[in-house]
Order: sequence, then C-alpha cells, then structure tokens
Amino acid sequence: MKRVLSIALILCLGVFSAQARIISSVPACVKKGVITLKTPAREKGQSDVLKLTADPLPSVRVGCVGTGMRGTSAVVRFTFIEGAEIAAICDLEQSNLDNVQAKLAKRKHAAVDEYVGPEGYKELCCRDDIDLVYICTDWESHTPIAVYAMEHGKHVAIEVPAAMSIRECWLLVDTAEKTRKHCMMLENCVYDFFEMATLAMAQKGLFGEVYHAQGGYIHNLDAFWDLYHQQWRLKYNSTHRGDNYPTHGIGPLCQALDIHRGDRMTTLVSMDTKSIHGVALASERLDLDTFAGGDHTTTLIRTARGKMIEIQHNVYAYRPYNRLYSLTGSEGYCAKYPVPGICIKGDKAPQLKGLDDLEAEKFLPETAYNELMALYEPQFVREIKEKAKKVGGHGGMDYIMDYRLIYCLRNGLPLDEDVYDAAEWSCLTELSRLSIENGNVPVAIPDFTRGEWNKLDGFHYEFGNPDNIVQ
Ligand SMILES: NC(=O)c1ccc[n+]([C@@H]2O[C@H](COP(=O)([O-])OP(=O)(O)OC[C@H]3O[C@@H](n4cnc5c(N)ncnc54)[C@H](O)[C@@H]3O)[C@@H](O)[C@H]2O)c1
Repeated sequence: MKRVLSIALILCLGVFSAQARIISSVPACVKKGVITLKTPAREKGQSDVLKLTADPLPSVRVGCVGTGMRGTSAVVRFTFIEGAEIAAICDLEQSNLDNVQAKLAKRKHAAVDEYVGPEGYKELCCRDDIDLVYICTDWESHTPIAVYAMEHGKHVAIEVPAAMSIRECWLLVDTAEKTRKHCMMLENCVYDFFEMATLAMAQKGLFGEVYHAQGGYIHNLDAFWDLYHQQWRLKYNSTHRGDNYPTHGIGPLCQALDIHRGDRMTTLVSMDTKSIHGVALASERLDLDTFAGGDHTTTLIRTARGKMIEIQHNVYAYRPYNRLYSLTGSEGYCAKYPVPGICIKGDKAPQLKGLDDLEAEKFLPETAYNELMALYEPQFVREIKEKAKKVGGHGGMDYIMDYRLIYCLRNGLPLDEDVYDAAEWSCLTELSRLSIENGNVPVAIPDFTRGEWNKLDGFHYEFGNPDNIVQ
C-alpha cells in the first residue's frame, strides 16, 4: 500500500512539474486544466484604443519597410491610391530597392528616398515627413519595427501575422494604447468579395444566428519556398510548432462573430499531424533532420457566447488552395470553397420568392446566388470594384485594404482592423503551439481589451461625413 501511494505521489509530482515547464513568452500556469497566461496590468494613464481616431491627414505619406515580394507589390499599389504618397523605402538588399525604383519609374513616379540594412528602418521612422510605416518584412521583425515606429510618432500597418508571440501581442497593444497611434494588421482576406458580402448577410440575419465558423490557410508553397529572403519562412516553420499563419483564416470569421465587439474568444485546443513534406523540405533546403511543425494543424476555439471557430493550416499538402471560409447559422450557411455557395430559407430574401426547390441540402440556384451577392455587396466596394480588380493584388482585395486604410486615415476615422484584432488573430500562433506541446490541452485566450470586449456593438465600416468627405 505504502509503495502504491509513493508511486502515485511521484506520478502527481511528475504531472505538476511537467505543468511547471510550460515554455511560453509570458508567465503561464494551469488553472483547472487550462493553460492560462498572465495578463500584464495596464499602466497608469494608459487607456483602450477601441474606435481610436487621429487627426485627418490631407495626404498619407508612407514609408515602406521590407520590399521583397509583398512590399514591392504594395509600393506599386500605392501609386494607384489617391491621397497616398510613397515617401521612402527600406530593405536589407539594395537589389530589392533598385527593383522598386524601376517599377516606380515605369509608373512615371519619381525615385523615392531609400534606406538599406537591418537598422535602416530606424532612420526612416525618425523622419518627420512620414505618417504611416507600412511593414512587409519577415515575421520576426514585424513587432520590433512597429513598436519603434509608433514610439516615433508614426501610425503602423503590419503584414500578417503582426506578432509571433503573446509577449509581442501585448507589446503592440500597450504601445498603441500609450502612443495613441493606429496599429493595423494588413489582413487582406477580410476584403475579399465573398467574405464582405456574406459578412453583410450575416449581420442582416440571413443565416439566423451564426454559431460555427470555419477558416484556414491551405496553400501548397512549393513554388515559393526559395523566394523568401534567406529561407526565413521554412526556417521559422522548422523550429516552431503550431499554426504559424492563422490570420487569413480567422480574420473574416472574427468580423462575422463580432469578436471584441460583443463576443470574445475564450479557449482553444490544437492538434497537428506528423510532418512528412515539411521535414523533407527542411532536409533538402536547410540540411536539417528535424522539423517542429506538423504538416496539418487544426485549432478549435470556443467563444464567450458559445460559438465555435475552427482554423486549419497546411502549407505542404498537394491539393488546391483553400481558405475554407464558411459560416453556419441556425437558419442558413455559406461556404466559399471549393465552389462558393449560399443556403438560406425562402423567407429570407425577395429573390427567393417563387423558388420552389429551396432545401436545406441545396445551395441557391446561380441566379438567386448572383442577385444576393450583388444586393449585399457593400456600397463602397461597388464604387471601387472595377479599379480594385484592375490594380489587382489577390484579385483586388489588397487594393481594397489599402484604399480603406488611406480613406480612414484621411478622414480621421477608426480603422477597420484595430490593434486588438492584430493581437487576437496573431495570438493563435503561440497558443496553438502551447496546446499541442502540452498534450493538446485547452489554452485560455487572453482578453487583449482587458475587459472591454463588450463595449462596442458589432463590427462596422466607418464612413466620413458626406458633406466633408475626402476620397
Ligand atoms: N497578406 C498576404 O496575402 C501576404 C502574402 C504574402 C506575404 N505576406 C506577408 O508579407 C511579409 C513579407 O513576405 P514576403 O513574401 O514579401 O517575403 P520576402 O522574403 O520576399 O520579403 C521580406 C523582405 O523583408 C526584408 N527585410 C527583412 N528584415 C528587414 C529589416 N530589418 N529592414 C528592412 N527590410 C527587411 C528582406 O530583405 C526582404 O526583402 C510576411 O510577413 C508575409 O507573411 C502576406
């Protein structure tokens, strides 16, 4: 009996000491079986930046840091946006800066000031003729550059994910709250046409109450691995387990579910497969024989209002591109992949009157689908759609994202995506790793608003006063 008791005691101690070894970027403990990370106290004098506004800017002078694949296309896009001015560019490689200048010349744009080297962004941020620092570098440099820029009086826009750890998420939130500067993550998928129209449908109740939402990033990156500067992406994935790229999947779902605008994500659990293709890539390209990430990672999230979000990540599979995007409600459903479709009850829209073959098991016929999509397309999208498609960037959504960012800054409006979105959508990276590395246990999702997630009433685009608007 004594021996059984001592074995039990050793086992218990083993469990507790294993719990004590949670490796996280901020202090963590286990409360009732849930890994819980410490929320830092808000400093005296610091307050939330929900619906933050700043003085309207007559024109927005942009400094772009990181002019690889993504940054170069962003700079070119800005030449099409009224009220945006490219003031300076910065990169580690002179050849990338030369490439951007050549593209600007092709657009008949004068050469812009440039900075080269890992610290060049500091000089760019110290200039007093730049309003917005637009960051398109690799993941691990996003937060340090953004924090430096805000501390030097600049608004920031950061490519996805904005932050790679909970510590970095809090750094962004705290710096935005202290400096009162905008900090937007450049999550472009919330501006895709299907997502915007179905968001409007969800808000108008066409799907009843939305209670399940699915999203993800499934994209075979074999054509891209060698194009990332010094293989930064494969290197990161080979040393970090979890969903390292969750924001394209989760962004549109959080807007549809009013996250930190009436609801909040409370807990997640994650699981991954073993790595097959990832480990082979790392062996071929990095000469590594280990790989931290699984080929496929799935995360389930529960919200305070009892909804569920499912997010998947797979950049290795031999299968077509898929962001999964679907919303399931009590009275309807929409899904974008592999073929977009909507399923709603007959009394939900005039277009459906007279259609006698409506069933829960069928998507709407094409004509009714097209009519609904046109009806629920936001007015501002209707106005800029043709130009967006012409300028391009993932079919136009990148143009719409930049257009909205510049429009809101010029009109002194809150941005569509705030710093809490950036933190909430990026935090899944570390939290999914914590769940997986600790036996797929639940992990509490920090409330980056520190208790103010129920203050706003849903997600809305903001528009200027029609008498005074700057387009
Ligand atoms: N939203 C989207 O659809 C989308 C698509 C692709 C990439 N991205 C994101 O864009 C970012 C960049 O990706 P990419 O594909 O352009 O990678 P890339 O490797 O082509 O470009 C990164 C660039 O950053 C530069 N850089 C790194 N550190 C720097 C520093 N300290 N100062 C100045 N420049 C620095 C590098 O020289 C390189 O040119 C990533 O965060 C990625 O996740 C987003």
